[in-house]
Amino acid sequence: MGNNLLKGKKGIIFGALDEKSIAWKTALKCFDEGAQLVLTNAPVALRMGEINKLAEAVNAPVIGADVVNMDDLKNLFQKSMEHFGGKIDFILHSIGMSLNVRKGKHYTELNYEWNQKTLDISAVSFHRVLKTAWDMDALNEWGSVVALTYIAAQRVFPDYNEMADAKSLLESITRSFGYHYGVKNKVRINSISQSPTRTTAGSGVKGFDGFMNYAEKMSPLGNASGEDCANYCVMMFSDNSRMVTMQNLFHDGGFSFTGVTQAVIEQMEK
Ligand SMILES: NC(=O)c1ccc[n+]([C@@H]2O[C@H](COP(=O)([O-])OP(=O)(O)OC[C@H]3O[C@@H](n4cnc5c(N)ncnc54)[C@H](O)[C@@H]3O)[C@@H](O)[C@H]2O)c1
Repeated sequence: MGNNLLKGKKGIIFGALDEKSIAWKTALKCFDEGAQLVLTNAPVALRMGEINKLAEAVNAPVIGADVVNMDDLKNLFQKSMEHFGGKIDFILHSIGMSLNVRKGKHYTELNYEWNQKTLDISAVSFHRVLKTAWDMDALNEWGSVVALTYIAAQRVFPDYNEMADAKSLLESITRSFGYHYGVKNKVRINSISQSPTRTTAGSGVKGFDGFMNYAEKMSPLGNASGEDCANYCVMMFSDNSRMVTMQNLFHDGGFSFTGVTQAVIEQMEK
């Protein structure tokens, strides 16, 4: 049982693929905190059918949208506002896809056509979502928009490949659009930089287990789980974080500011 932190608020959640998805866990928490929701994902993901279970649990319609298709996004916002009977208070962008990673291309050998698609789906899509909302005046004042990102945007993690570039762009769009939407409508826009988390997208990164164990040992609090991330999203959608905007918020148990830990030193001495 929640604390009604999102009572009366209406939100769109992008990217719930299956119950491991961060978006899935966030939808459950938002519902528990009193929000009304619309769920969306790419038509190909909807065909898996898993999302219907979530839709039932959070009493939400599912409206398909390929996030790089502007007509799909327009239709999504139009139908969402009809469903809610008014404007939207929060959006979660929980979308990532790398064609070069999927097809095993090394960072030094990128296929640029695939690279363009990766950047479009994983980063420019955030601009597309925000521009659609802006053009349709779909967000309430003090609305809150969150995108999920990873620290490879700032530091090198070699196997994160082209997604590191995509996340850098995503974080830049967060700041730039955050400025304009803040001035226009007091809408706030932030990214949450999450610990490695065992999901379909996460596990696509080469050497993910080693990656995850290393992060666990390098974080004073340990890795943040998907549930922890969902709780943080709820806080960012709530009125308790009203003056936070244009930030990249590390949600990683302290990993981002740790130089080394005793556990890693001991490992190196073996
Ligand atoms: N899992 C991790 O370790 C981790 C760490 C930090 C940040 N993140 C980020 O969290 C977000 C969510 O990923 P996740 O780990 O929950 O994995 P996930 O695979 O469950 O979610 C990724 C989602 O993106 C959707 N998607 C892909 N192409 C799309 C398109 N064209 N249109 C609409 N939706 C599309 C997929 O259908 C899927 O639902 C991503 O941005 C990811 O980069 C993940």
